[in-house]
Amino acid sequence: MANASTGGKAEAFSGGYDRKSELKAFDDMKTGVKGLVDSGITKIPRIFIHDQIKKEESGNLKPASTFKVPIIDMEGVYTDTNRRCEIIKEMRDACQSWGFFQILNHGIPSEVLDEMIEGVREFHELDSEVKKQFYTRDLTRKVVYNTNFDFHTSPAATWRDTLYFIMAPHPPTPEELPQVCRDVLIKYTNSVQKLGLCLLELFSEALGLDKNYLEKLGCAVGLSIFGQYYPACPEPELTFALRDHSDSGFFTVLLQDTKIGGLQVFHENQWVDVPPMHGALVVNVADLLQLITNDKFKSVLHRVIAQKIGPRVSVASFFRTRPGDVDAEKVYGPIKELISDENPPLYRETTTEEYLMHFYNKGLDGTSGLLKFKLQKEGN
Ligand code: OGA
Ligand code: NI
Repeated sequence: MANASTGGKAEAFSGGYDRKSELKAFDDMKTGVKGLVDSGITKIPRIFIHDQIKKEESGNLKPASTFKVPIIDMEGVYTDTNRRCEIIKEMRDACQSWGFFQILNHGIPSEVLDEMIEGVREFHELDSEVKKQFYTRDLTRKVVYNTNFDFHTSPAATWRDTLYFIMAPHPPTPEELPQVCRDVLIKYTNSVQKLGLCLLELFSEALGLDKNYLEKLGCAVGLSIFGQYYPACPEPELTFALRDHSDSGFFTVLLQDTKIGGLQVFHENQWVDVPPMHGALVVNVADLLQLITNDKFKSVLHRVIAQKIGPRVSVASFFRTRPGDVDAEKVYGPIKELISDENPPLYRETTTEEYLMHFYNKGLDGTSGLLKFKLQKEGN
């Protein structure tokens, strides 16, 4: 069903041209969006054009919103009981109303963050012949370089190349990692996993559960790290860098470079910028955490606008398991401690495998993957 409907939309957007062959021709080159930019193009290929969406938005990409994404200082989280209680409260508020917040003093030194951004940038700026060895659409590979994971299923492509790694539960061997970012990736992965466990404790307590609850449920078993590279775009008004979407896993930790913004989150019917801050990390609730918390925590739409300036680099760490992982068939539904007669389950149960395959097959089309799992209210 999902395939048929996105296929239909893709055709409607294509203006009657042979979109499939153009997608294939681009993919076969294995040089990504950066390859197009390096070749000196001044017009973007039509497979990247989002004309219908852009018309609907009528160019309104930078609304003058006065909302500010919450910033939470984690200093004292393990040493100061009072401060820890405040942090938990701030996170609860942020997860309930925004689904997004930035954290400071999270324990990962800013040098490691800077090095991680540089490592991703250096990979994308390698000679295209070297990068080609990693270009693939094989979902079983643990080190993958390509353009848009949903290139062949989304209504229109977006201005971004990605290098991603499946780092947990079964990481690649160090030799499988590209040399330019190998050491820092291993260091960053260890740090982000520790931070992930800390966040899960705080989320658990924010929900009124035992502090180990979400970890025991398996929410930090899987980790995929995506090194995003958004080249400068000659016609940013015609496309996106990353289309509006919510993330598929339990939660995401995002590191953005300090030079170029462009990430926006949808809050109270407006797009709000998430300004880059040196040393900070962005944390967001993802779909499966919204599902198991029965809508207490919100997985919200976010996007990255295309810009004339670039490249922009970011590193997104998705805490999620994948088909084939130990926990992939484990069943998740609304947590029983969070449901009651007044607060009945809003979602049917699913597995992380089923959820991720739905997310991949649907592609980023501007809608939440959770819709398919919503239970109908009786009487509707
Ligand atoms: C993502 C994402 C934002 C960014 O990869 O899912 O939302 O700033 N990335 O790259
Ligand atoms: Ni995202």
